[in-house]
Amino acid sequence: MPTVVITGSARGFGLCQAKKFKASGYHVVISDIQEQNLKKALEELNRINPETTKAISTVCDVTRLEDLESLWNCAVNAFGTVDIWINNAGVNSPDKPVCDLTDKEIAFILDVDLKGTVYGSKVAFAGMRKQGFGQIYNVEGYGSNDAMMTGLTMYGTAKRAVTYFTRSLARESHDLTEDRIKVCRLTPGIMITDFITHANGDATTIELPEKTKKVYNILGDYPETIVDYVVPRMIANTKNDGNIVWLTGARAFGRFLTAGFRKRDFFSNKS
Ligand SMILES: NC(=O)c1ccc[n+]([C@@H]2O[C@H](COP(=O)([O-])OP(=O)(O)OC[C@H]3O[C@@H](n4cnc5c(N)ncnc54)[C@H](O)[C@@H]3O)[C@@H](O)[C@H]2O)c1
Repeated sequence: MPTVVITGSARGFGLCQAKKFKASGYHVVISDIQEQNLKKALEELNRINPETTKAISTVCDVTRLEDLESLWNCAVNAFGTVDIWINNAGVNSPDKPVCDLTDKEIAFILDVDLKGTVYGSKVAFAGMRKQGFGQIYNVEGYGSNDAMMTGLTMYGTAKRAVTYFTRSLARESHDLTEDRIKVCRLTPGIMITDFITHANGDATTIELPEKTKKVYNILGDYPETIVDYVVPRMIANTKNDGNIVWLTGARAFGRFLTAGFRKRDFFSNKS
């Protein structure tokens, strides 16, 4: 059975990906800093495909290189090799301009969103180079395509850098492994998860302005919808430097065109 490792997978997009991979015949290694959520997530995963696939969990803070090395070792000890590694852990930033962010807030966003992805990629690449194959996915986000907005500057800076880093690492993989390790981007669009209403990994509530809610109601989706599209494509991917995109320009255009007929409200029961 193939194996997938996902960081920040105790809830949200990471957990939904884990469920979809397990249902698709993968052994799954989930990891997160939230130990309680991780336990609950593992119970849910153990109910999916229990006869043929296994799930394990381990606490891993992506800002710590040694935690990521332990995560790799934990996966290999349990399942032998790692086919797909997804650097998914991420935090949103408080809705404040840079001049109002504290040094701690700035460091926190860059540490989790950028350094965590770099460390996770480094560890996975080294391990995959030894085993001779594998796919690494880094999750893009607002700013990856150069979009800019007051309040999202640090998050966008980190995600823009994630995009550059991932593409440059794909180039390294071309030179070092003749593309045997695929280093790719995963672009999920807008997902209705706790992420959009909480900054700093839960500490701060973000009050979404009405006009933002309107846009999210048009363009957003639950992660369950998005994984049905992206996970089969990750499994089938054969290309280094690939990008699996849910919210393409065409899909977004279609959503705006049909917005008048498709009334959606993700926020009436959510804070
Ligand atoms: N929700 C969106 O609209 C959206 C859009 C584009 C991209 N993304 C990206 O998708 C990814 C997942 O987002 P989500 O919406 O599921 O968010 P989420 O907040 O629901 O889940 C993120 C998970 O990461 C974990 N995490 C935070 N810091 C960590 C650390 N230091 N080490 C390990 N785990 C840590 C959290 O505990 C949480 O379980 C993130 O990279 C995010 O930037 C989200």
